[in-house]
Amino acid sequence: MTAVSLQRVSKVFPGTDGSPFPVLEETSLEVPSGSFTAIVGPSGCGKSTLLRLVAGLAPVSAGTVTINGALVRGVQNTIGFLFQHDALLPWKTTFDSVALGLRFRGVREEEVRERCQDWIARVGLKGFERHYPAQLSGGMRKRAALAQMLVCDPDLLLMDEPFASLDAQTRVLLQQDLLLLCGGGTKTILFVTHDLEEAVALADTIVVMRAGPRSGVKATYPTGLPRPRDVLQVKSHPRFAALCRMVWRDLAEEVTKIYGDRDAIPSWNI
Ligand SMILES: Nc1ncnc2c1ncn2[C@@H]1O[C@H](COP(=O)(O)OP(=O)(O)O)[C@@H](O)[C@H]1O
Ligand SMILES: [Mg+2]
Repeated sequence: MTAVSLQRVSKVFPGTDGSPFPVLEETSLEVPSGSFTAIVGPSGCGKSTLLRLVAGLAPVSAGTVTINGALVRGVQNTIGFLFQHDALLPWKTTFDSVALGLRFRGVREEEVRERCQDWIARVGLKGFERHYPAQLSGGMRKRAALAQMLVCDPDLLLMDEPFASLDAQTRVLLQQDLLLLCGGGTKTILFVTHDLEEAVALADTIVVMRAGPRSGVKATYPTGLPRPRDVLQVKSHPRFAALCRMVWRDLAEEVTKIYGDRDAIPSWNI
């Protein structure tokens, strides 16, 4: 089963001088149900744009995007979306933030309480239900956002560099949480990251995008790394470094197109 399908999708934005700026051109991608796909590509190539098209937050200029076979038209409210920046409302407590989606869907309050308490505990925030975002650390806010997304039990999760702003230890803990909470093949995850090691450690498939403009999928690599997985232990898997090297070679070529100087691009030497 295919969860997400992009067929020859193009996206053109108006440039600053009014002339069309083609970000994506004839991009095709198939994401199987229950898989974890990481998207990497040079900065500005259109990774966030691609996720926004899948979420229906922006319309395609040409081509089609489907979710479970249904054409995406307008905002998809049955999928989960996690952004790089906190999407928590400053005036809502952890509990009310997590409850937002369920209340919006008209779930009765008793069930809202039960499901929110369950997810708040699962992301390690028990005792912080009444805290406001400003009273939480960056990692805790990210956990709250994760619970906010998962409490509605979406089948498809779109994540746009969700852990990019976190310190290294918190990041590893959250990566592991993500694998434990939804890495079991029941959710389809489309995960944008600029961090190649993160992509290889978490995903089943790595999609490399070309440098823009007119970006698209350059290559797709199935990693074949075992599951269940520990984000730190998987880095000592015999194939981990080779996978990073292989994908980096492809990615470095695209990065070179932006920075120009090949000598300035480091090689992967782990
Ligand atoms: N709403 C918009 N209007 C005009 N240009 C945009 C808009 N959103 C993104 N872009 C342009 O599209 C390109 C890709 O952006 P983005 O998808 O955010 O890249 P990435 O996430 O890969 O870093 C960039 O050149 C950016 O300036
Ligand atoms: Mg982006």
